[in-house]
Amino acid sequence: MKFPIVAYGDPILRRKATAIEPDEYPHIKELIENMFETMYAARGVGLAAPQVGLSMRLFIVDASPFEEDDPQLKDFKKVFINAIALEDKGEEWAFNEGCLSIPDIREDVSRKATIRLSYYDEGWKHHEETFSGMAARIIQHEYDHIEGKLFIDKLSPLRKRLIQKKLNDISKGIVEVEYKMKFPAVKKGR
Ligand code: NI
Repeated sequence: MKFPIVAYGDPILRRKATAIEPDEYPHIKELIENMFETMYAARGVGLAAPQVGLSMRLFIVDASPFEEDDPQLKDFKKVFINAIALEDKGEEWAFNEGCLSIPDIREDVSRKATIRLSYYDEGWKHHEETFSGMAARIIQHEYDHIEGKLFIDKLSPLRKRLIQKKLNDISKGIVEVEYKMKFPAVKKGR
């Protein structure tokens, strides 16, 4: 089952998501499967639970489309539950990022080279791991989602001003998207 993806402007994208307990969510595997289906249909490389309307500390990534740039990303498909960033370090580098909740906008964003995280996988096994390169980039972007942050927060005031109208339009549903979205400023059943 595919979820509609929550668009920019929805307050859930600004909320710090809460940690989940294993027994609190017995159907988590099904939820994760549905999130992957949603992400692949939208041709994304990462998706966080708040983007499908759930304020939970859960995100998924599949970096395999970047395999050509980095062969290590061949099978880089992962689930992160209750992630906590332990350390962001290294030199910052810029990359042109996009976000499934903010369609049709891509901007250069600078982030540190590596991220160290504590997290649980889909089988509730605990990991403490350091990621670098494109994997770190995608994880940092998704991690921001569960903290209520978006990549556009990292832009200069000037860049932000330049895209403001487009952002307002997105929240009103004035954007062409090839996947199903839920727009906060579109009133239902008039
Ligand atoms: Ni995003």
